[in-house]
Amino acid sequence: MNIVMISPGFPLEQAYFTRALAQTGAQVIGVGDQPVHALPREAQAHLAHYEHVALADESAVLAALDGLSAYVHIDRVECLWEPYVVLAARIREHLGLPGMSVEQATWFRDKEAMKRVLDAAGIRTPRHTSASNAAEIWAAAERIGYPLIVKPIAGAGSADTYRVDSAEQLAQVQPMIGHVPLVSVEEFIDGEEFTYDTVCGRGEILFENVCWYLPRPLQQRSHEWISPVTMVLSDLADPRLADGIAMGRAVIESLGFTDGFTHMEWYRKADGEVVFGEIGARPPGARTVDLMNYATDGDLFATWAQAITTGSAPPLTNKFNCASMFKRAEGRGRITHIEGLERLLREEGEHVCVVDLLPIGAQRRDWRATLLSDGMIIYRHMDLGQTLRISDRFANELRLYAE
Ligand SMILES: Nc1ncnc2c1ncn2[C@@H]1O[C@H](COP(=O)(O)OP(=O)(O)OP(=O)(O)O)[C@@H](O)[C@H]1O
Ligand SMILES: [Mg+2]
Repeated sequence: MNIVMISPGFPLEQAYFTRALAQTGAQVIGVGDQPVHALPREAQAHLAHYEHVALADESAVLAALDGLSAYVHIDRVECLWEPYVVLAARIREHLGLPGMSVEQATWFRDKEAMKRVLDAAGIRTPRHTSASNAAEIWAAAERIGYPLIVKPIAGAGSADTYRVDSAEQLAQVQPMIGHVPLVSVEEFIDGEEFTYDTVCGRGEILFENVCWYLPRPLQQRSHEWISPVTMVLSDLADPRLADGIAMGRAVIESLGFTDGFTHMEWYRKADGEVVFGEIGARPPGARTVDLMNYATDGDLFATWAQAITTGSAPPLTNKFNCASMFKRAEGRGRITHIEGLERLLREEGEHVCVVDLLPIGAQRRDWRATLLSDGMIIYRHMDLGQTLRISDRFANELRLYAE
């Protein structure tokens, strides 16, 4: 089987998917932005061939693929990186290959198109509309009411996303979103936030995962003192999750998704009502695939590759709750010291899987630009209460300082 992998080495995680795909016995043909020497080792060693082409230049990509298909029969085109999910679909249509169509792929990228399809399927989405100028935003606000959310139609990482509680606030936010050509205006949903992630093969959901965000991502992105946590939950039978999981399955079905990774976000209100957030045709980022691996003692890279190539994968179940926590240093500039780590590792070390903090002397990262912030830890525990206890300790007792 010859499989084209779009962006096989960037972001870094793609290299692990590339390697897993090659390990199924498939010939993996990489197509990406990076010069070949910049590809991570795991990708380089497992690509049968690599085409270096600007992914933003669609006609160049299609021309490169035409060139390739003169020599090899291409069976599939895969893309696990959000910005090029539609490009991959475009290539499939161009070459007449099976897999997600451009229309379907667009449902996973355009937050308005996505919700229109789901509304038609009877799934509870926030009241929403798109707006392309100030007048439309004001009209939308009037119709939807406050509080509301204004965000880009194809946003990521909570960029240019604002909660707006009143007309006065909307007037303040307006100039800050002026550069976004098309925005989504949505009813603000007050509640807790979760994910529903899957690996599918030939239309079957082969693996399901739920993460709990602590606190909600918009708050994670708004307050520097917060240590954001993403927690894979081990007990998918928890009644608090039942409606969200049922919604997730219905969403996969409504969008006609059949093969690969999905990452959905959903809200659970205090009264128990669940509301759809968004969905991507890709795995969650910020090392959440690693969390799934530590939670299951499995290899989701391999699960995905098997699902893609054979339509099946050995079952995986969660043994642990597993969480990532991102840390932000106090002060500006370079990391000067790290407090509490030795004690925490002495007392909780058996639960800690990864410690990946910036070293002393390193320049702080921009916490607004990257969730990775100044480093992260991953920990796991079979008991949810214990996992939350460990979270509290790392949030309060592990401190990085900079100056
Ligand atoms: N309608 C809404 N009601 C309440 N909160 C919302 C709503 N829409 C967005 N948010 C908040 O803003 C965050 C970012 O929004 P969303 O997930 O749609 O955008 P994104 O930038 O693609 O996200 P990601 O950070 O997952 O890439 C959400 O996780 C949530 O905390
Ligand atoms: Mg999101």
